Amino acid sequence: MRVLITGGAGFIGSNFIRHLLHVKKDVEVLNVDLLTYAGNLANLADVEKTFTGRYSFIKGDIADRKLIFHLFETSEIDWVVHFAAESHVDRSILGPQTFVRTNILGTFNLIEACRRFWPLEDMSCVGKKRFLHVSTDEVYGSVAESMYSTETSPYDPSSPYSASKASSDHMVKAFHRTYGLPAIVTHSSNNYGPFQFPEKLIPLIIFNAAKGRDLPVYGDGKNIRDWIYVEDHCKALMAVLRKGNLGESYNIGGQCEIQNIDVVHLICDYLDERLVLLGGRPRRNLVRFVTDRPGHDRRYALDTSKINEELGWRPGVGFEEGLARTIDWYLKNIKWVKNILNGTYMEYYRRQYGKRLHESKL
Ligand code: NAD
Ligand code: TYD
Repeated sequence: MRVLITGGAGFIGSNFIRHLLHVKKDVEVLNVDLLTYAGNLANLADVEKTFTGRYSFIKGDIADRKLIFHLFETSEIDWVVHFAAESHVDRSILGPQTFVRTNILGTFNLIEACRRFWPLEDMSCVGKKRFLHVSTDEVYGSVAESMYSTETSPYDPSSPYSASKASSDHMVKAFHRTYGLPAIVTHSSNNYGPFQFPEKLIPLIIFNAAKGRDLPVYGDGKNIRDWIYVEDHCKALMAVLRKGNLGESYNIGGQCEIQNIDVVHLICDYLDERLVLLGGRPRRNLVRFVTDRPGHDRRYALDTSKINEELGWRPGVGFEEGLARTIDWYLKNIKWVKNILNGTYMEYYRRQYGKRLHESKL
């Protein structure tokens, strides 16, 4: 069977391709990715070598309808696993337009192609097809203390990023109800692990703390996220593809709620053990509380009982273990980070943090 992966050169997509090719021997993967600043073929160097013949790459834009239709016309596609997106909240605040283009229009093109090229009226055929739309817990917005978002909670997105994801979720669901698109939507919490672009909290803090640079923490640092190790997310997506019910949504969470400042302190302490102290001082001293992100959601928290009970999936990697694995990976692959830092990333870093770090009180 052939699986079209969109955004497979990014963080979760590249981890998922590796996982899929290992666990499902009868699949061939076609990865379409625009290679934006976040896409990196180095994330798949081992896959290209190990799975020659079962893996191929096409550089392309999901917002390019002609290209997407051409792909569906020329290859028999069984499953689509749709990761491609603009994924960073801070960038969506600096410039929301590409979020609308890729996340909304790009998703629309993909489901239109399914509608056009998959024989949706033929039930036996639809049984083999799957469109998995990889979404986020951020569509539910900020969740009050001791409350949890379920799959039926109302949407309440705060950022242009989460609003664009919410919009695409609705379109996918509508295509299921209206045209019988064999679609499933997943809402994952914050992922961490190897190959995450160093603009996101955990890799950014690992890299800065390792180098002795300031550690920017937004607001009071007490915002809460529920962290999931990327490999657990990939396993959950496989369970959904294999056993999930069409038209349904599934929350995928790590059941690990933690305040940002505690995440930062854990990283500092682990690095202090692994590397020498900087000038004899613990890395916690590098923390700088900076101006808060506008519209910053206070807390995300998922009720994951549906996927636990219906599909028997549970996260396997605890936060401290996952974090240690992740930090070790970044220390071992410092060249991977350095190659990114040589690109246009530093321009973004200066724009995002220059003034904030300059003004920070500590
Ligand atoms: P990422 O930013 O690391 O990767 C996104 C990939 O999409 C990149 O390879 C990029 O080149 C590609 N891409 C961007 N625009 C494209 C376009 N127009 N056409 C084709 N390819 C394009 O993102 P990620 O963290 O791997 O997230 C993957 C998906 O998972 C996203 O849909 C995101 O919303 C969702 N998600 C992420 C998290 C998380 O914590 N990272 C949590 C929940 C859901
Ligand atoms: P991030 O990794 O951007 O994920 P998301 O905003 O999608 O949850 O941020 C995780 C949390 O860390 C979020 O509450 C914002 C905060 N944060 C900082 O405090 N400093 C930073 O430099 C970054 C990137 C994030």
